[in-house]
Amino acid sequence: MCNPSFITKVIKIDPENINNQDLREAVIILQNEGIVAFPTETVYGLGASAFSEKAIKKIFRAKGRPLDNPLIVHIDSMEMLESIVLEVPKNVRSLCEEFWPGPLTILFQKNSKIPDCVTAGLPTVAIRMPSNLIAQRLIHLSGLPLAAPSANISGKPSPTSPSHVKDDFDGKIPLIIDGGQCQVGVESTVINVNSIPPLILRPGGLDYEELRKFILDLKIYDKHYKNKDLEKHPSTPGLKYRHYSPTARVILIEQNQQNMQSIIFEILNSFTQNMNEIGYIHTNPEIVLEALYLEKLGDNLIDLTKKTLKTIVIQKEIYANVAHKIFWALRMLDSKKVKYIIVEGISEQYSGLAVMNRLRKAAWKIIKK
Ligand code: TXA
Ligand code: MG
Repeated sequence: MCNPSFITKVIKIDPENINNQDLREAVIILQNEGIVAFPTETVYGLGASAFSEKAIKKIFRAKGRPLDNPLIVHIDSMEMLESIVLEVPKNVRSLCEEFWPGPLTILFQKNSKIPDCVTAGLPTVAIRMPSNLIAQRLIHLSGLPLAAPSANISGKPSPTSPSHVKDDFDGKIPLIIDGGQCQVGVESTVINVNSIPPLILRPGGLDYEELRKFILDLKIYDKHYKNKDLEKHPSTPGLKYRHYSPTARVILIEQNQQNMQSIIFEILNSFTQNMNEIGYIHTNPEIVLEALYLEKLGDNLIDLTKKTLKTIVIQKEIYANVAHKIFWALRMLDSKKVKYIIVEGISEQYSGLAVMNRLRKAAWKIIKK
């Protein structure tokens, strides 16, 4: 079947001063079963009415997304939530009150208003209330819950700016709402509170440390807990498919390696002698790169510790800064056409957990001790 081609329109909106009229075109597209890219606080989403099978199919087609990978539904109120799920258990309601709007996605039992294609046939639907004001207004004005995966071609790094969305979908979707850079930079945390034990299925913008204060027995899938059945019928994000990968080959150096300089040297010798082919993402302020490498890497060095060294002293904020920029850095180095991207791993604390989850999935090679 031939893909429809569009002139992709970009509408810039100031989140501090949203004019409903500026969102009119997007609302009309959504109400007529079309798709629109919009900003959220985590990453950009590719949205469509969660009630329309026809619209949902357009999302899967545009992204090249496997049909067995379910979507997240975005809502703007507890009333909207109640209208699409069988029940809101009491313990879950208090979590919603604490963390919504924000980067937390919770699984619910869906009702029949949500078509099976949204959840890939699962009885549960993943739902979140975004804090981004443009996203909230878009949902409110269209009067629709919006199913929205990250607005990237399947397998690519998630988009944290409107230009990333354009790179992937120019000519393939009718409209991108430009709300500037995303604040969080990695996707929402996906949890299942009703499993035993309650699980983080995908670490993300809301930290495990924060959630554990409210769910005492919370475990992280794949770190504290694994279940063979889940692996057989993967509903757990990212178990089955390649994710977050730029075109360049990502070489992840796990944390706590003794001799970074010799590792870099080894990589250079075994994969390429040509420094122009190497991009480098520096995440750890404690690693001091030799002047020789700094000079040779030139613009291909992305230093995510720069801001942190000057202004940030709290560990948590150092990790949040890396999370904020990691997808941007992968896409930036890809645009420089490097062949390899070397990236330093960080500790799995706070946002470091989500960053390492994404990097391990993006990696072509992981260098461990
Ligand atoms: O921050 C985010 O979550 C972004 C923004 C746009 O909201 N969205 C996002 O969507 O990351 P996506 O499709 O890229 O990732 C959603 C993940 C998928 O890996 C999927 O497997 C999981 O959520 N998911 C969705 N429904 C699920 C369900 N019923 N059970 C288990 N996992 C589910
Ligand atoms: Mg995604």
